[in-house]
Amino acid sequence: MLELKNICYRVSTADGEQDILKNVSAVIDDHKLVVFTGPNGGGKTTLAKVIMGLVHPTSGQILWNGQDITGLGITERAKLGISYGFQQPPRFKGITVHDLLVLAAGQDKLSKDQCCQYLTKVGLCANDYLDREVDVSLSGGEVKRIEIATILARHSDLMIFDEPEAGIDLWSFARLTETFEQIHRQHQSTMIIISHQERIIQLADEIIVVAGGEIRHRGSTEEIFPLILADTLGSCPVLTKEEHNR
Ligand SMILES: Nc1ncnc2c1ncn2[C@@H]1O[C@H](COP(=O)(O)OP(=O)(O)OP(=O)(O)O)[C@@H](O)[C@H]1O
Ligand SMILES: [Mg+2]
Repeated sequence: MLELKNICYRVSTADGEQDILKNVSAVIDDHKLVVFTGPNGGGKTTLAKVIMGLVHPTSGQILWNGQDITGLGITERAKLGISYGFQQPPRFKGITVHDLLVLAAGQDKLSKDQCCQYLTKVGLCANDYLDREVDVSLSGGEVKRIEIATILARHSDLMIFDEPEAGIDLWSFARLTETFEQIHRQHQSTMIIISHQERIIQLADEIIVVAGGEIRHRGSTEEIFPLILADTLGSCPVLTKEEHNR
């Protein structure tokens, strides 16, 4: 179980202090698929990075399976079974796709068949990619899919995907959503997926709307999804209702 308790993240900017996350609290139960959504700049990625330990909160606490991990770094959190796929994945010159998958799987070696299984889940063919370096020669969508494959290879207890749909073609995206569905159905991991995508939002047990550095609303897909859809026709009722109540 993941517990976020009163997470605040404040940065100093040229315009003074800015609160990026404001007192965010949430509990995410094991094996749930939770989607973080909300407007650009709302704080979703920052919150994901706080969970992974890439960003340290100014105040608040993060508990993972009852253990306080607030002071732990990325490597320690990875060892405890948390993984995060960047919105914009980094590239690694000199490292091949095969090397990355082996590293992610935490094994001495990985057969071509095993690599193929992970790459197929993101719509890539092992024959074409295993020996390629994860450098600038790969397209944005290819790098994104390779990173998602490395997260799948890790088999973490908590997988966080930051806009997995970004830059991915429709066919690979369909394959990917099937993979998320399968992981969820088999109760393999808890998943937090940051997404603006209808297809992914519909897979969720719960949707958390993050806006203005706060959790503005949280509920089932049935409760929240119609409100998000309504947002495409005008202002978002979820957001405006909360704004109105202030
Ligand atoms: N270190 C920082 N210094 C200044 N501003 C920051 C910093 N980190 C994040 N921000 C700001 O905080 C806000 C939240 O950023 P974040 O990347 O978490 O948004 P997001 O919800 O993931 O948006 P998107 O949907 O565009 O990915 C943005 O306005 C961003 O510019
Ligand atoms: Mg983001």
